[in-house]
Amino acid sequence: MAEARDALRPRAGRIGLVPTMGAFHHGHLALMRAARQDCDVVVVSVFVNPAQFNASDDLARYPRDEAADIESAEAMGVDLVFAPSVEELYPDGFDTWVEAGALARRLEGAARPGHFRGVATVCTKLFSIVRPAAAYFGRKDAQQVAVIRRIVADLNLPPQIIAVPTVRDSDGLALSSRNVFLSPAERAVALALPRSLEAGAQAHRAGGDPVAAARHVLDQQSGLTVEYVAIDDFDGPTLVAAVRVGTTRLIDNASLHG
Ligand code: PAJ
Repeated sequence: MAEARDALRPRAGRIGLVPTMGAFHHGHLALMRAARQDCDVVVVSVFVNPAQFNASDDLARYPRDEAADIESAEAMGVDLVFAPSVEELYPDGFDTWVEAGALARRLEGAARPGHFRGVATVCTKLFSIVRPAAAYFGRKDAQQVAVIRRIVADLNLPPQIIAVPTVRDSDGLALSSRNVFLSPAERAVALALPRSLEAGAQAHRAGGDPVAAARHVLDQQSGLTVEYVAIDDFDGPTLVAAVRVGTTRLIDNASLHG
């Protein structure tokens, strides 16, 4: 990676990094597009990070398609795809972790112990390896953006963190690598998630209780288990929710700005 970056040096002004776990969809492509617009060199990392999965997450079933990813990265005008092996990023003896505080322990952090420690550690490593001026993250994972901003501020890491709006399918479901696990019937059930957040945002605009409004929509829907519905400060007040549909866990959020 260091050699490849140095080879681009003559035209390398601003380097933009898009960290991903691959299996690209239009959400990932939106991050690449944003990076392409602002940066001279765009690096996309593809690494299914074992450290951010816990047992119930099932690392083994995470979708992977490196050949297709490289092709779409190329079509997006990405300069470098960095796809290290697990042994490269976590060699024998690896024993240093980046752990954010309270922000990383609630909501997703509570539901997935160790998740943000894995995310924070791999992103810190990627920032050190790629040395980007800017790194691009999706608002879809609002708490992840907040955790990354926290560690970048607290550890004085150089990259500017840029949050890109959530890309949705025409039916409203936020694009996610995990959507491929939904059967058509489960997908219909999952649509209650964006509908609930829209109802919450609407209640907020009308002076009502966003959490109650969102919960009401989710409670009406059979075939879905609610993990949490809450308001938190992730780049401003944000209504966040996590649900389970069958064996698939889905998260989404809506900004309560304005
Ligand atoms: P991954 O799930 O592959 O997502 C990579 C990036 O794409 C994240 O910043 C995520 O927020 C963004 N993204 C996913 N779905 C999106 C959508 N519908 N609209 C806009 N952006 C979307 O998130 C991770 O990987 C990992 O935790 C990572 C940051 C790479 C660390 O391993």
